[in-house]
Amino acid sequence: MKGSGLKTLAVDIGGSGTKIMVLDEAGQPQTERARVDTPQPATPTNIIAAIAQLIPSQGEFDRVSVGFPGVVRRGIIGTAVNLDPSWVDFDLGTALAEKLGKPVRVANDADVQGMGAISGKGVELVITLGTGFGSALFVDGRLVPNLELGHHPFRKGETYEEQLGRAALDKIGAKRWNRRLEKAIASLKHLFNYDHLHIGGGETKRIAFDLPSDASIVPNVLGLLGGIALWRDQ
Ligand code: BGC
Repeated sequence: MKGSGLKTLAVDIGGSGTKIMVLDEAGQPQTERARVDTPQPATPTNIIAAIAQLIPSQGEFDRVSVGFPGVVRRGIIGTAVNLDPSWVDFDLGTALAEKLGKPVRVANDADVQGMGAISGKGVELVITLGTGFGSALFVDGRLVPNLELGHHPFRKGETYEEQLGRAALDKIGAKRWNRRLEKAIASLKHLFNYDHLHIGGGETKRIAFDLPSDASIVPNVLGLLGGIALWRDQ
């Protein structure tokens, strides 16, 4: 048997896909990632059922980490703009713990991605490019909670997510989207003066320009692997 100690089921709930994978105590993958299209309507009931359906492919686990595409406070959902509105105020931590019979910790998806990506030194900004535009800020490895750049004004009266989310990419095409992304990176550098910018999410594969030396693309699987960090204080 591979790995040892407590096994963590990492879950990444996304606007278009929901993925799961089991990690060992060191955060190493123990199973093949399983994925399902996020069901529509993307309600709590439907998404929890979709996660439960994927679970038999993953074997045993002791605890669960979830990355969720919205603001999360103590397991309770604050916002979920790319899912069904019925998520707001839903206690996902408790509902999933009851369904799976295991302890559950829930965090914002970009925060989880960032926990997997950062070096822990200086100011590190994380953005994710997927259905939505995710963001997370870390100072010497400590998360500054609830940063929601995606819904902050960027240019032409539109937010970062309106300009750079998947709907915009589909509408304007990769060339213009890349030009916008270059502008966004320049704007974020002026705002945060970060030491490093980590760029994650499924649409990083569309990036077609040379990134500045203080920015890099991180693998999307960190949205699952970063889930181990939610248990690090245990
Ligand atoms: C949400 C963020 C999330 C991002 C990526 C945004 O619409 O507001 O909380 O991290 O999408 O999923």
